[in-house]
Amino acid sequence: MGFEWLPAEPLSAHTSLGVGGRANVVRIHEFRRLPELMDYLERRSLPWRVLGGGSNLLVADQDLDDVVMQLARPKNGTTFVGNRVEVAAAANLGTTVMECAKQNLGGMEGLIGVPGTVGGALRMNAGAYGTEIGPLARSLSVYRGDAGRVEILKTPDLKFEYRHSSFAPNDIMLSVSLELISRPYAEIVEKVKLFNQKRRASQPINEKSAGCIFKNPPGHSAGKMMDELGLKGTRVGGAVVSERHANFFVNRYQGTAADILKLMDMVRERVLKTYGLELEEEVIVWRL
Ligand code: EPU
Repeated sequence: MGFEWLPAEPLSAHTSLGVGGRANVVRIHEFRRLPELMDYLERRSLPWRVLGGGSNLLVADQDLDDVVMQLARPKNGTTFVGNRVEVAAAANLGTTVMECAKQNLGGMEGLIGVPGTVGGALRMNAGAYGTEIGPLARSLSVYRGDAGRVEILKTPDLKFEYRHSSFAPNDIMLSVSLELISRPYAEIVEKVKLFNQKRRASQPINEKSAGCIFKNPPGHSAGKMMDELGLKGTRVGGAVVSERHANFFVNRYQGTAADILKLMDMVRERVLKTYGLELEEEVIVWRL
């Protein structure tokens, strides 16, 4: 099976926030058939977007006209050569961290607990506890929407900044080679346990969220500022500023994207008024 069409699929079922309208989703099982799919979409002038793990994504409540593409999760796509791992972009990040650990390869321990896919993590240059994924990337196989072909990108072609990468919006990452550090399994597991504890203590990991909603402005912590303003527990519809970490907005009472967007506007306004800082969204917002 090359593609699997899921017509009028509720995107709320594909996002960790649990909100979003419907869209025609196409799940891609065979990468080599991507050009064929692109041809099909182009001939019908159908715009498209790529969905990763949906864990850093806020999808508007209205139905989307765009076709949403998602790479199917690979069954056994991970290979190891020396200190390098070659992994499918659609692989789960946490699972990858542990698969590498079993090969005595560390350096990604801080990323344990970051939900989503390896490709999504790279696009956002996901980071936690002093580790960002971008600098670990050595080469990537990418379907470049603009060029209409698969290209191999090497380290100098890849630019990563705080929660930002240089990929084009219509680049579809297929697989990536990461360079890790040789480290005994037991040592990696110790670190993983420590980071899991830290995360459990400071973040609402059992509630529906998209992780941190805003980026930290240089030299400031968005969560700390919101906490100082007494915004924890602030509610709009079903969306609440988490009591555990103020930069997490949780969908506690079957909220909508509109609730979350309204809460974001309220918070942004308060922070601007008090601190004179404009908070930038970290979460990717899909509006119509
Ligand atoms: N703080 C508060 N109240 C809060 C939240 C935080 O006082 O409600 C204080 C903390 O006590 C600490 C400081 O603010 O002194 C920073 O907090 P924390 O260590 O939780 O880090 P953060 O800057 O809020 C960042 C990333 C997280 C990542 C953690 C751990 C951003 C926007 N967030 O959070 O990443 O997990 O560090 O490394 O960069 C994400 O990107 O979605 C995300 C969750």
